[in-house]
Amino acid sequence: MSVVVTGATGHLGRLIVANLLAGGLPADQVVATGRRTERLADLGVRTATADYGDPAALAAAFEGAETVVLVSGSEPGVRVAQHAAVIDAAKAAGVRRLVYTSAPHADTSALALAPDHKATEELVRASGLAWTIVRNNWYTENYVGALEQARSTGVLLSSTGDGRVASASRDDYAAGAAAVVLGEGHEGKVYELSGDVAWSFEELADALSTVLGTPVVNTQVSFDEHRAILVDAGLDEGTAAFVATLDADIRRGDLADATADLRTLIGRPTTPLVEGLRAAVA
Ligand SMILES: NC(=O)c1ccc[n+]([C@@H]2O[C@H](COP(=O)([O-])OP(=O)(O)OC[C@H]3O[C@@H](n4cnc5c(N)ncnc54)[C@H](OP(=O)(O)O)[C@@H]3O)[C@@H](O)[C@H]2O)c1
Repeated sequence: MSVVVTGATGHLGRLIVANLLAGGLPADQVVATGRRTERLADLGVRTATADYGDPAALAAAFEGAETVVLVSGSEPGVRVAQHAAVIDAAKAAGVRRLVYTSAPHADTSALALAPDHKATEELVRASGLAWTIVRNNWYTENYVGALEQARSTGVLLSSTGDGRVASASRDDYAAGAAAVVLGEGHEGKVYELSGDVAWSFEELADALSTVLGTPVVNTQVSFDEHRAILVDAGLDEGTAAFVATLDADIRRGDLADATADLRTLIGRPTTPLVEGLRAAVA
């Protein structure tokens, strides 16, 4: 079984490759791909350059592969076309199965990032390929920036209200994706992957305080105040609005669904918040 992982130059894809190897897939049956291929050299597997905008390169990278793990792209707005190119190339190359990393409840969620994932999921289902969709909740590592800010200010600032986030560490999600690739019976399934616990921002402030060894205060502001604070801090208007919108999504509960899917796939509890934050800053 030969498995191609896209986005292996990035954080998640790299960990998926590592988890495939840890799960017993021989190194010569793993192909790690991305654009910045210099980042792949130390993975110890086969490598190929694959730009989502370059169908010929995708086709060459997928040659002879049984499974493609499509790690969603990082440029919102162009991702659906990029993902479509990957799916088309996989079909043309005779790939049997596609595993796609999506977003929580992508088909019904109002999460700002959901539309790209919903559209991609529809392409995956219509492709004729065997497929599995792994919908990843937030990475715990997303809060490393908040930790660094809290280190200097003692404040965790957000506009998330009472919203909760069922985060897990990237390595947990990578282990989940690898389990889907290496295991049986996952075809045609959608998994809602999350941490075991949906934590509040009060609990996140406590976790940051534990990791930093200093007090951290959960400070809530409104959407408009948050956006203005981010612009004052130097973000452009669009980015500030985007960040505040993600907090509004959390406030609404879009990331609060803690399921058993990930811990069932990986056969262990997901990484607790404090432990995940500690590892991320180690
Ligand atoms: N659940 C969450 O909390 C969360 C947070 C952030 C992002 N995400 C999503 O999850 C994905 C993986 O997360 P991550 O932390 O590993 O992100 P990351 O480190 O930024 O990696 C993104 C990967 O996408 C690849 N990529 C982007 N555009 C590409 C293109 N045009 N052609 C080929 N490859 C392309 C990049 O490869 P090259 O640049 O080398 O080409 C890189 O390997 C992200 O891309 C995003 O869709 C989820």
